[in-house]
Amino acid sequence: MREPFVDRPDPHSYYGKGQPKTTHVDWRAAVDFATRTLSCQATLHFNQGGEVDLDTRGLAIRTVTDGEGGTLQFERHEPDSLLGACLTVTVPANGRVRIVYRTTPEASGLQWLTPEQTAGRQHPFLFSQGQCLNARSFLPCQDTPGVRFTFTGELTVPRELRGLMAAQSLERREEGNFAVERWQMKNQVPAYLFAFAVGELENWEIGLRSRVWAEPSVVRAAAQEFAAVESLIRAGEALFGAYPWGEFSLLVPPPSFPYGGMENPTLAFITPAIIAGDRSLVYVVAHELAHAWFGNLVTNAGWRDFWLNEGWTTWAEGRILEAVYGVEQAMLVRALLAKQYERDCAAFATDGKSRYLRLVTDLTAVDPDEVLSRVPYHKGAMFLWALENHVGRERWDAFVRKYIARFRFQSLTTEQFLAFLDSELPGAAKAVDAEDWVYRSEGLPLNAPVIAGEAIRTAELYALSLRDAPTRAVGEKWTSAQWVLCLNLFKRQVDHFVCSEFARLRLGEHRSAEVRAAWLLLAVESGYEPALPYVRTFLGEVGRLAYLKPLYRALAASHHRGFQELATECFGQYCDRYHPVAQKVVQGLLDAALGVAATA
Ligand code: BES
Ligand code: ZN
Repeated sequence: MREPFVDRPDPHSYYGKGQPKTTHVDWRAAVDFATRTLSCQATLHFNQGGEVDLDTRGLAIRTVTDGEGGTLQFERHEPDSLLGACLTVTVPANGRVRIVYRTTPEASGLQWLTPEQTAGRQHPFLFSQGQCLNARSFLPCQDTPGVRFTFTGELTVPRELRGLMAAQSLERREEGNFAVERWQMKNQVPAYLFAFAVGELENWEIGLRSRVWAEPSVVRAAAQEFAAVESLIRAGEALFGAYPWGEFSLLVPPPSFPYGGMENPTLAFITPAIIAGDRSLVYVVAHELAHAWFGNLVTNAGWRDFWLNEGWTTWAEGRILEAVYGVEQAMLVRALLAKQYERDCAAFATDGKSRYLRLVTDLTAVDPDEVLSRVPYHKGAMFLWALENHVGRERWDAFVRKYIARFRFQSLTTEQFLAFLDSELPGAAKAVDAEDWVYRSEGLPLNAPVIAGEAIRTAELYALSLRDAPTRAVGEKWTSAQWVLCLNLFKRQVDHFVCSEFARLRLGEHRSAEVRAAWLLLAVESGYEPALPYVRTFLGEVGRLAYLKPLYRALAASHHRGFQELATECFGQYCDRYHPVAQKVVQGLLDAALGVAATA
């Protein structure tokens, strides 16, 4: 038995340098909610024959053939806890490998929801989440952003449900109790963007190339909230060139979705938490849209270079917002991100993990999902913004277009980016001290651009005034985004009479989970007990990691009576409702804060 290949360009994949590369995948899956499994067949097409090491995690492999009746020799290695199990196959002369397999209920890239976890409460729901290392738990593949393929997909689902893929729809056919939905992706994509969802889903048209998909009771509000989508796309096109994916639709999964959004091509997944009724949190849509160029078209080579996806996207999101809503609004969103960034930095510093404060840091033997933070987002965007300011907008925008043209449908490393920057804008990197931004600095370098504006100032002033005497008049006129910023502006541990003012404004019942999360976090950090019932409800309903992490962390760190207990109680009770990645992350955080015994 040979060991997996050792010369591997990506420490998070078994893909070996020089091995055949996947160019196309034909995939079929039958969805079984009763057993929480997918029965699948994946036919991988390679550019040449030879031995390949594929990534798999927890897949029950039945057969491996050449798709023409010939069985192929394959070997499954002992699973590694981070990478999963390497599957070695010799690709035959026809370049095809057909794998028949089943997923397990524990698949790290799938979340199976009970009917009670949905808005309609009648039907179960399923969605996939490939990024970062989880596509391999539902598709045996070269799970590295450096390998791209086109694909066709076919989902067999219960007739009363829809089976969607992040791809172009070919047909829906109903056969007895089942429906078969066929999809096609003509652009080459990395495995982490291979995505699907199954549930009781309806769609509304919200733009020339956009629909919103959601459960029936949510779709109307979602359509209203995201009505600006076409203007966002146009702004993106004016800046970065034609939108390259045809459709830009949105899927709103139930609130247990672990992220704010996920940039699945043609069908971005967006948390319902940002449906605020006032459209003030649509920056999440702008963000996932910006990935169409940064990430999906020009892709990071490995997760160490994650900032090439997220920093660029955050920068681009800012420019799109600026074009559509003006510089004030863009600034407000930057200020929101800056607050999250500061919180993440403080957590890393407390945990003795300061190397994650750097923009680029080695992630060998580390699960990128577990160290996900706003560092690559905020610091990455600030770095690019500093460069933009240095060379001037006109030259910078021309550079951005050249960058996209040079690397479209390719992946690149940080070093390749820096080399390209140097060749196109000589001297710019040196002038802003790119080395410091990228490799050395643990905070924001001193030449970081300043985030300021009227809307930010208003929220700041209100936060200040509330500190002494609650002003009852404000609040009603505020957008959700302003509320979130205001709540985040408070130094922690606010007086309970200020807390009671927020309680009186019913922030614990606010329509947007984003606002509820910001308020409840402040309440927990201030030891404000009357908020605890709301915290409990919230932790049972919402699964977004960006809320769960700080809330559980604050509860676990609290010295107030009953707060730590609430953390263990809620996690014990609700753990099953969280996404597998969220379960793992929260478990790790509680173990570290409370000692392993506490949550065992
Ligand atoms: N691609 C990310 C989500 C992600 C990152 C999933 C890493 C898994 C691993 C997505 O584009 C994102 O950045 N979402 C943000 C949106 C926000 C910055 C507007 C989120 O989920 O909070
Ligand atoms: Zn992103």
